[in-house]
Amino acid sequence: MLHALEVLFLRIYMMIFKAVTAIMPFKWPKVFEGNQSSLDLVRHMAQKGHGSILIVTDAVLMKLGVLNNILAELDKLQVKYAVYDGVEPNPTVQQIEAGYQILKQNNAQAILAVGGGSPIDAAKMIGARAKNEKPIVKMTGLFRVWRGMLPLYAVPTTAGTGSECTIAAVVTDTANKRKLAAMDLKLMPTAAALDPSLMVGLPAHITAATGMDALTHAVEAYVSRNAMKKTDEKAVEATKLIMQYLETAVADGSNLEARQKMARASHLAGIAFTQAGVGYVHAIAHKFGALYHTPHGLANAIVMPYVLDYSLPNCASRLAELARHCGIGQAGADDVHLAQAFVQRIRDMNAKFGIPTELKDLKASDIPEIAKSAIGEARFTYAVPRYMDKPVAEQVIRHMLPKAA
Ligand SMILES: NC(=O)c1ccc[n+]([C@@H]2O[C@H](COP(=O)([O-])OP(=O)(O)OC[C@H]3O[C@@H](n4cnc5c(N)ncnc54)[C@H](O)[C@@H]3O)[C@@H](O)[C@H]2O)c1
Ligand SMILES: [Fe+2]
Repeated sequence: MLHALEVLFLRIYMMIFKAVTAIMPFKWPKVFEGNQSSLDLVRHMAQKGHGSILIVTDAVLMKLGVLNNILAELDKLQVKYAVYDGVEPNPTVQQIEAGYQILKQNNAQAILAVGGGSPIDAAKMIGARAKNEKPIVKMTGLFRVWRGMLPLYAVPTTAGTGSECTIAAVVTDTANKRKLAAMDLKLMPTAAALDPSLMVGLPAHITAATGMDALTHAVEAYVSRNAMKKTDEKAVEATKLIMQYLETAVADGSNLEARQKMARASHLAGIAFTQAGVGYVHAIAHKFGALYHTPHGLANAIVMPYVLDYSLPNCASRLAELARHCGIGQAGADDVHLAQAFVQRIRDMNAKFGIPTELKDLKASDIPEIAKSAIGEARFTYAVPRYMDKPVAEQVIRHMLPKAA
């Protein structure tokens, strides 16, 4: 266990962090919402008169034709653009650098990101790279994007990360096997579109995993000690929407209502965690992503029940509130039982989506390194309800070892 004095020190540090966050001047993006709203965003962008723009996306989306209507609208509006589709899941420093080269060659003055969190995050860092004479890794951490980024317009095609409304960009430093987050007010996109029509082709397993990422944002923001009334409202609404619509979106990807509600949930959860932070689920999941390339949402979905089990003694009332909001558990049950029912619901959702209870790539010999990294990431960044020391973190992570290992 952490020493009581150390916990006290961390709590005081986090209280200061919360007070600063509460008065931070977040500039939320202008949001277009609804079927085909990505075209409204394109028209809005065209009106701004950027001479030429860079589109940042991935090769899968290009191949599937997800961008076809957007590109046709840009042609119609005679906006000059270049496309960089070299981003892969968990984008690397090299991919960002390659995108920046294309941006420079085309003298682009703004960026349109179309994709999941990976292309949007990569676009943020490409835009930051254009304004700052600094290597990408030197811009990770808190408030190190001093000169800002190019205007960024974001169209999420997963309902997951909320990156279109967060101040974060997560990059993979392959050389050092770590995922690094840049967090800076200047990484907030200018405008975004929540367009369900672009999400109908998202395969069921990615819909499920990215939806569980959004749920993790909402839940970790709600149980965070840095939660505020304004973040609670968003986190609760997001949780309710996810509990109501994620199963439908997974079962029937063409259900536009479910897609729209999930896009909204992901957006609200993004606003909530931008201010209240996340926690150990993300800290552990980031290391899984760095070591084993585990998709971010899948990693969170696997980790979440174990971290909530551990955290429950310090946040039972908060989890119980979420359960009551979502009609989970028996009416009139006490907080601990409701909190347990909430965690069980997450386990049931995972089971229904075919998300395993263990991480097949996890190696026992990697656990000390994962635990160290997770504790380090959380320490001065996340106001977690219950702190872990290294042995405890290792114990929590061990639950995810493949049973044969
Ligand atoms: N910036 C933030 O605030 C924030 C928050 C959470 C996570 N992240 C980061 O975001 C990344 C993960 O993003 P993600 O989970 O959205 O996934 P992703 O962007 O990595 O995409 C996952 C896969 O889904 C495919 N895909 C995406 N949209 C599709 C569509 N509409 N149709 C068909 N296929 C589609 C992609 O081609 C890709 O193969 C991670 O690097 C994670 O660390 C960032
Ligand atoms: Fe996340």
